[in-house]
Amino acid sequence: MSRVALVTGGSRGIGAAISKALKDAGYSVAATYAGNDEAAANFTSETGIKTYKWNVADYESSKAGIESVEADLGPIDVVVANAGITRDAPFHKMTPEQWKDVIDTNLTGVFNTIHPVWPGMRERKFGRIIVISSINGQKGQFAQVNYAATKAGDLGIVKSLAQEGARAGITANAICPGYIATDMVMAVPEKVRESIIAQIPAGRLGEPEEIARCVAFLASDDAGFINGSTISANGAQFFV
Ligand code: CAA
Repeated sequence: MSRVALVTGGSRGIGAAISKALKDAGYSVAATYAGNDEAAANFTSETGIKTYKWNVADYESSKAGIESVEADLGPIDVVVANAGITRDAPFHKMTPEQWKDVIDTNLTGVFNTIHPVWPGMRERKFGRIIVISSINGQKGQFAQVNYAATKAGDLGIVKSLAQEGARAGITANAICPGYIATDMVMAVPEKVRESIIAQIPAGRLGEPEEIARCVAFLASDDAGFINGSTISANGAQFFV
């Protein structure tokens, strides 16, 4: 029987590429989304991948959603915590709401996605946790105090889970994409985006598929001894 993978924010952007790559690799994939019904319906009709709507920032919704995925597809073996938002503003203009929205979705949302599947992974002695962090969690970013805090927090989550899950056959790793050609990056004002691209030695934005291939590798049996790691995929923009 094929393994089951859950991809949050899996119907658009990097998440959509991840969902497709995992389906191509033979997984039964469930992709979640928060609000864009039209994009989700188009994604399902194009790919045949079923989508589920819930807000990762809400624990009870996440738990109930995960139960319905497991009822449909079977126990979840691979979790890709990818859903994330930006609410960029220089710190002196950042509102408590902008701080809270990003923390709730990008950081608490990762807890809410992993916590309900963790006991089953421990029992079955297999699991793959892959968290999509960001270059901006590694280096910080002007106007992203909120976002950078969550993406740095993701690295703490995977390093801790790696230690807790290792003996139960569970790995937890993070990927730090650089600037990738998605709606999120396209929302940055054009002039700012051009100055960002000028700082990328590769001379271009990354493609969502370049992140998806990292995920497919980390999910595979071949990656069983890679645990607690951070893979940077940023066109040489930043090294840790
Ligand atoms: N470094 C230093 N200074 C900067 C700067 C930077 N990166 N960006 C802007 N500034 C300066 C501006 O030049 C301006 O200076 P002056 O007042 O002297 O002209 C000052 O900061 C404030 O600018 P604004 O008043 O125009 O600020 P604003 O309130 O309109 O906010 C912004 C504009 C939100 C910062 C906008 O410029 C922006 O969106 N920047 C991009 C931030 C970014 O890179 N976000 C990443 C999104 S992609 C992502 O998050 C995915 C991922 O994981 C990589």
